[in-house]
Amino acid sequence: MTDELINRAAEDIIKAKKVVALTGAGMSVESGIAPFRGKGGIWEKYDPVEYAYIDVLRTDPGKTWILLSEMQKEILKAKPNPSHLSLAELERLGFLSSIITQNVDGLHHEAGNKNVIEFHGNHRQAYCMECGKQIKSEEISLETLPPRCDCGGVLRPDVVFFGEAIPPEALTKSNQETRSCDVMLVIGTSAEVQPAASLPDIAKSSGATIIEINIEETGFTGYTSDYFIKGKAGEILPKIVNKVKDESTNLSA
Ligand code: APR
Repeated sequence: MTDELINRAAEDIIKAKKVVALTGAGMSVESGIAPFRGKGGIWEKYDPVEYAYIDVLRTDPGKTWILLSEMQKEILKAKPNPSHLSLAELERLGFLSSIITQNVDGLHHEAGNKNVIEFHGNHRQAYCMECGKQIKSEEISLETLPPRCDCGGVLRPDVVFFGEAIPPEALTKSNQETRSCDVMLVIGTSAEVQPAASLPDIAKSSGATIIEINIEETGFTGYTSDYFIKGKAGEILPKIVNKVKDESTNLSA
């Protein structure tokens, strides 16, 4: 069954004029970064209302930085896994127009993808909330929390907190890509957080085929998704890309 769906996905990708991928935390689990929801998820340990809303960062930055420092340590030591490398290969082969990622770990860039829309920002970049000075997260000492700029202001990663707006350019580009694709790969996301979770429905209403890859069913499965391939992204995606390579080589031969 899974092999049939992998073959079907490869055919849909080859036939498509424009393929877009929407990725979530499930892409990076095999790189050692904890997901937010489900078993071992970050929100099991830290209540997002207490730690991850913009008003907490403003009123009690030391508390938010307890969560941020844990995330930062995982992100800065993580490397792309076969799921990231597969999407980079798909772009190189000319079968992937863009990735809209909810992840802030920067691993799609690390894997080599050029057209990545960071819907929730990037934790590898940071800036001072007082003077705006930009700084790489790897240069931030986590000895004392919250970390501060030379000016005394509190530093924060360049990510979207709950209660903050999606960066306007990311939102515009994501909507353009979503409305103009004819295949959307929806990989490793629980479909829980808006406005990212609306993108597959928008793509579908624009006529796209929605292919979902996840280790378990989500709110998209059986509704938004045209078909669901159950499995780890790091195992399913390499098989799909290998099939695309085989089939497209035959086509051009
Ligand atoms: N392969 C594929 N899918 C996986 C894997 C894997 N190896 N491991 C976990 N998953 C799936 C889970 O089944 C789940 O559906 O990845 C999804 C992870 O869900 P979340 O942790 O909710 O991550 P995400 O959907 O990206 O969250 C969206 O919520 O908290 C905010 O800003 C945060 O960007 C995040 C947003």
